[in-house]
Amino acid sequence: MTKFVLIAALGAIASVSAAGPAAVILGEAGTFAILSKSGIDTVPTSVITGDIGVSPIAAAAITGFSLKLDSTNTSATATQVTGSVYAADYKSPTPSELTVAIGDMETAYTDAATRPTPILDLGEGNLGGLTFVPGLYKFGSDVTIPTDCTINGSSTDTWIFQVTGNLIMAANMRITLIGGAKASNIVWQVAGYVEVLAGAHMEGILLVKTAAHFRTGSSLNGRILAQTAVTLQSSTVTQPTQTDLRRILAQTADILA
Ligand SMILES: *[C@@H]1O[C@H](CO)[C@@H](O)[C@H](O)[C@H]1NC(C)=O
Ligand SMILES: *[C@@H]1O[C@H](CO)[C@@H](O)[C@H](O)[C@H]1NC(C)=O
Repeated sequence: MTKFVLIAALGAIASVSAAGPAAVILGEAGTFAILSKSGIDTVPTSVITGDIGVSPIAAAAITGFSLKLDSTNTSATATQVTGSVYAADYKSPTPSELTVAIGDMETAYTDAATRPTPILDLGEGNLGGLTFVPGLYKFGSDVTIPTDCTINGSSTDTWIFQVTGNLIMAANMRITLIGGAKASNIVWQVAGYVEVLAGAHMEGILLVKTAAHFRTGSSLNGRILAQTAVTLQSSTVTQPTQTDLRRILAQTADILA
């Protein structure tokens, strides 16, 4: 048993030599499934797993949720959210914590947008049918996903997609992760808006300069970190589970001690 755990742990360490760009640090923004500067709207029933928050706009910009303030007035709950709801006009310390999270979101956006030397520097992007190995990809205008596409790599590999225009995913299409690739290691930096049409499934961290629109029945395994509004229509947003490397390393240290 001990031997098995050790081998598994060493395997995890060996695979740390990951392919792709250095991780984009999300800071406090990485604790939110959805973070927006100007509002979150849902057409029920959406299913959100993870916290959601708005700042600097107030809770009135979170619409369609029937929010219930908790007894301390620092957060709220909603049946469509498995997690807490935060807004800039809630009681301290929520406003200052949201200010930090928004700052971290903007820093992460700028970091992702300014990474140099993409392995592919394209104009208009049509990702349909493609398989993406780990790396940094840059698109000079809109990116469309008119048919399914695939992201292939190990659980520690990373991807950054720099999109100078909008990112539009056609109805009922899917991004599929293979080889152990994780949504938490995939960043979409979008200078325009993101639109995921009805029934489509998206994967990754969305760092969006403007809005994110998820149409009827669409879904995301990832986070929506948007600098204007987020709109959902019976959408499912599930924050990724984190790779718990620290736990694995601690376990290995225990075994070797
Ligand atoms: C929370 O807000 C309600 C409604 O505005 C108010 O009646 C209550 O006193 C507040 N509670 C705290 C702990 O601030
Ligand atoms: C996924 O990547 C692995 C490792 O590079 C490669 O062996 C495999 O053929 C790839 N699969 C697809 C479908 O591209």
